[in-house]
This record gives sequence, C-alpha cells and structure tokens, in this order.
Amino acid sequence: MNTPRQLIDWAEGRFIQADLFYGHGTDNALDEAAFLVLGALDMPFDVDPERLNEPVAPTELKRIKELVDDRIRSRRPVAYLLNQAWFAGLSFYVDERVLIPRSPVAELVREEFSPWIKRDEVKNILDIGTGSGCIALACATVFPEAVVDATDVSADALEVARINCERHGQFERINLVRSDLFEALEDKRYDIIISNPPYVPGEEISTLPAEYRHEPPQALIAGADGLDIISRILLDAHRFMTDRGILVVETGQGRGALEAKYPETPFVWLELEHGGDGVFLLTRENLATILLSS
Ligand SMILES: C[S@@+](CC[C@H](N)C(=O)[O-])C[C@H]1O[C@@H](n2cnc3c(N)ncnc32)[C@H](O)[C@@H]1O
Repeated sequence: MNTPRQLIDWAEGRFIQADLFYGHGTDNALDEAAFLVLGALDMPFDVDPERLNEPVAPTELKRIKELVDDRIRSRRPVAYLLNQAWFAGLSFYVDERVLIPRSPVAELVREEFSPWIKRDEVKNILDIGTGSGCIALACATVFPEAVVDATDVSADALEVARINCERHGQFERINLVRSDLFEALEDKRYDIIISNPPYVPGEEISTLPAEYRHEPPQALIAGADGLDIISRILLDAHRFMTDRGILVVETGQGRGALEAKYPETPFVWLELEHGGDGVFLLTRENLATILLSS
C-alpha cells in the first residue's frame, strides 16, 4: 500500500471502522480520506488520475499514516490537521483559533446575492464574526470594487483572518476590526451586512460530536436559546445599512426559535441549491418590524 489511491481506500476503511463524524468540509468517509491524503501530498482534488497510481515517498507515507491515526485518536477534523480549508473556491489557512469554514452562504456570495441587490450597487460590505476571514475574502473576490469591513470579538480569530488576507493579497479592501458586533464600527452604512454568527444553544454543545470540541466555543455558543448574538444583530443592523441594504444571516437550526421570538418579522428564508436551510435575508425596511415589536 503506497499509492495515493491505495492510501485513500485504506484511510476510508479506517474512518468507517472508527465511526467518525463528518461535517467540517466533507460529509462522508471517502471524501474525508481523499481530503486528507491529497491535502497531505499537496495534490489538487482534480489531480490527473494517473498520478494516483504512482508510489509516494516513504516520508509522505509515514506522515499520512500519522495523520490518519491522529484523526481517529483525537477526532480533530482534517482541516485542522492540514491547516487547510476551502470556501467559495478559495483556500484558507485554519487552526483551532477559528471555526472551520463551511457556511452555506458561500453559494449566495458566489451568486453575487442575486436577485436581492444589483452588483454595481455594492460598495460597502460588513462581515460580522469573520473568523478565518472566509466570507469577507469571498465577498472581496466577487465584488472587486467593494470595501469589506470584517469584525470579530476574538483577537485570535483576527490573527488567522490576517494570515488569509495576506495569502490572498487582500489588505487594501478588507479592514479587520476587533469589535463586539457593531460596537467599534464608525458611522458607516453598508449595502450588504452578512454574518455566520454563533447560534448553538449552550446546553447543546455537550451533545455535539467530539469534532466540534476542537472549535472555539465562542464561535459556536450563543446563550441558552442560541439567539443571543442574532437578536443583537437584528436590533442594531438597521443603523448600519443603506436604504437598499440587505442583511443576510445564517441561523442553523434556529429558524423555529427565531420566528417564535419575532413573529411579526417577514424573514425571507433563502433556498440554497447546495443545501443549508437556515439562512435568512431582511431588508432595512423589514428590520423596522423588529424595532416596532421590541
Ligand atoms: C460561527 S463563527 C463564523 C466564522 C466565519 N465567519 C465562518 O463562516 O467560518 C462565528 C464567529 O463570530 C465571532 N463572534 C462571537 N461573538 C462575537 C461578537 N459578540 N462580536 C463579534 N464577533 C463575534 C467568533 O469569534 C467567531 O469567529
């Protein structure tokens, strides 16, 4: 066993036997094995199939075996083991200071938030809770004329975002700001405010698979009902939006709780082709219903 193809088969078998959880970039044992083996060998996912039959060097073989053992023993997701994740077609450096990028909003960004806003109207974008910087960087790539402000309350996360801005040569149009939501922002209006905030109810964290325990709790947990951060965004966002501005927020499983808490608010739940059903959109006008009911 010393070709990438054989190693992928072997790793897949080990992962199935170990009954791992997938959900940090892949959703099954084969993809997880391919991500690990190809990533460790620095091979692209669309590598020439012939290369999968060529023997790897003994040092690479040893490293792959160690990584597979580590994945099973520690339950650390492959993205952390390789310090690599993919989002909206871009590659990111990641470590345990940030959530592993996987938000379904990638699809919306790639589609330029069509039909909700016109591309040439987008001048200023705000990404709240930027983590690795993945959403901010994807936005900066899709909207080359726009300025993106990216906030996070975690200085550690902003360090990782900085590494990714450097990797993608995006320092001029992305401002990294340490801020508790909107607190440190200046008086500025945004055409798009986007956020994948923490939304896991506190009690649920201990029920999640072990893989999640390697992610920063601050990136996951948001109070008893999971709505602490989203509620604060809903209350303040209108002050930072242009008249035609949109707010797009991922809520995970929080749709029911959110609708129960804000029954008057006309949340638009976005249908995503690649899955993920907890993303809502509100216009500035829609947000007025929150103000009226609060
Ligand atoms: C679910 S992670 C999302 C990270 C990244 N945007 C992504 O999609 O991969 C949430 C992020 O929000 C940050 N965060 C938590 N509370 C915050 C707050 N009050 N203000 C700003 N950022 C916050 C966390 O540090 C974390 O980086």
